Amino acid sequence: MRKPVIAGNWKMHTTASEAGLMALELKRLLAHVEGCEIVVSPPFTNLDEVHRHLKGSNLKLAGQNLYWRSTGAFTGEISGPMLKSVGCEYVLVGHSERRQHFGDTDATVNLRMKAALEHDLTPIFCFGETLQERNDSRTWEVLTRQVVQGLMGVPESIIPRIILAYEPVWAIGTGQTATTEQAQEAHAFLRELMSESYPRFVAQSCRILYGGSVKADNVDALMALPDVDGVLVGGASLDAASFARIVQYEPC
Ligand code: 13P
Repeated sequence: MRKPVIAGNWKMHTTASEAGLMALELKRLLAHVEGCEIVVSPPFTNLDEVHRHLKGSNLKLAGQNLYWRSTGAFTGEISGPMLKSVGCEYVLVGHSERRQHFGDTDATVNLRMKAALEHDLTPIFCFGETLQERNDSRTWEVLTRQVVQGLMGVPESIIPRIILAYEPVWAIGTGQTATTEQAQEAHAFLRELMSESYPRFVAQSCRILYGGSVKADNVDALMALPDVDGVLVGGASLDAASFARIVQYEPC
């Protein structure tokens, strides 16, 4: 049984005090929820504040990125041990906004992945095709390249710890969610891809999240899909009530 993961990526939103209030509200709304992992990913500057509010709760913390070196003269970067020191158990790796705007490549995503694992952070490994790539019928080729290169050199025994997050770029922040057919097709493809590279039980145990315009009104249908094991939510995670509803999805 794959335990569902519902994760909120706050991106570059919230000041420390806003993040603290949001954490308190989520903790109150979600205290009784069991059966899924709930993760929030505030900006770096708010991790400590959010961690103090969420300590002892059922909500877990993720960084939005990490650098692959632990310390050193790397102005502006954040390392795995730093994330651990403010209570992170997870970290996003390879988000499309990092790839699009900040020069992340499959090779640097792979370095970040290994750094996350080395520091005992669970990577939430993001990837997905652009609209152009989908229109050019290159979706499967792109996903294969991103997944294979992102996981390069990761020992098979570690793979079940990694959370995959399929986020088609054209669905992020656009309000245009993948249809349930598109999402299931991609997730089934990804599970098959994993089973070509690793034993079937490893592929079966891997959680694959969907991200891209997930909202309270489409989460139930997405979570009902056999190969969707959770969601990674951007915009709708910035409203406590709407994120709380998403966490309490009712697969239909
Ligand atoms: P939206 O939910 O705002 O489309 O963002 C998705 C995302 O990028 C989560 O990482």
